[in-house]
Amino acid sequence: MTTTGFGIDVGGSGVKGGTVDLTTGELIGDRIKILTPQPSTPDAIADTAAQIVRQAGWAGPVGITLPAVVTAGVARSAANIDKSWIGTDAGALFGSALGDRDVSVLNDADAAGIAEDSFGAGKDTTGVVILLTFGTGIGSAVLHNGVLLPNTEFGHIEVDGKEAEHRAASSVKEKKDLSYKEWSVEVSRVLTTIENLLWPDLFIVGGGISRKHEKWIPHLTNRTTVVPAALLNTAGIAGAALASVTKTASFS
Ligand code: BGC
Repeated sequence: MTTTGFGIDVGGSGVKGGTVDLTTGELIGDRIKILTPQPSTPDAIADTAAQIVRQAGWAGPVGITLPAVVTAGVARSAANIDKSWIGTDAGALFGSALGDRDVSVLNDADAAGIAEDSFGAGKDTTGVVILLTFGTGIGSAVLHNGVLLPNTEFGHIEVDGKEAEHRAASSVKEKKDLSYKEWSVEVSRVLTTIENLLWPDLFIVGGGISRKHEKWIPHLTNRTTVVPAALLNTAGIAGAALASVTKTASFS
């Protein structure tokens, strides 16, 4: 397998990219970050991605995440990005914006899940690993012995009459000014609902708020072990880079 790849992680506030050592998941050189254009339309994001690849001087295939369901390269949802993504053939769009090279597009949490499972907090666990990212929304990835089940959207399951991400995203903690302890009650409800349906062996929690994990993981009351993500803000980039070279049917 090629030993280096390039990943771009498209988020609500920043578009981040970098060259990744595919044997360790670590970045080689600097992470390039450009503020997400507003509105975050497909053309504007494609221009930003092209700028990042140009700046890095990268010539090979590229993996790109979107905060959306992605099937066969087409974005199918847009909970926290511009609605005009829905139905956009992101593979074709990025492919031509980046100079007709091989491009793999996948969901942002799926990318983080692949990276955490291969190199990070899930690397020593066999069985079912579920990664949840807490940010503007809640993203999810499910892996079984290292194989991803793509496009799970647990941020949108109903938990006690309310969408999970409207209950427990970290943006809700900010908006309602909840303490970590108060917020952890909501997170526990979401984790309990998921574990009662899927019985995972491990939960990995990511997103910026996982940096402060010692303030809230100890308050969680669900059954399954919960560990913080290890790769933090590089997981999406690393997972995207991996997807660009593995090219399994799950990401295209
Ligand atoms: C989207 C997911 C995404 C998550 C994190 C959710 O609102 O539906 O596709 O993975 O936010 O960005």
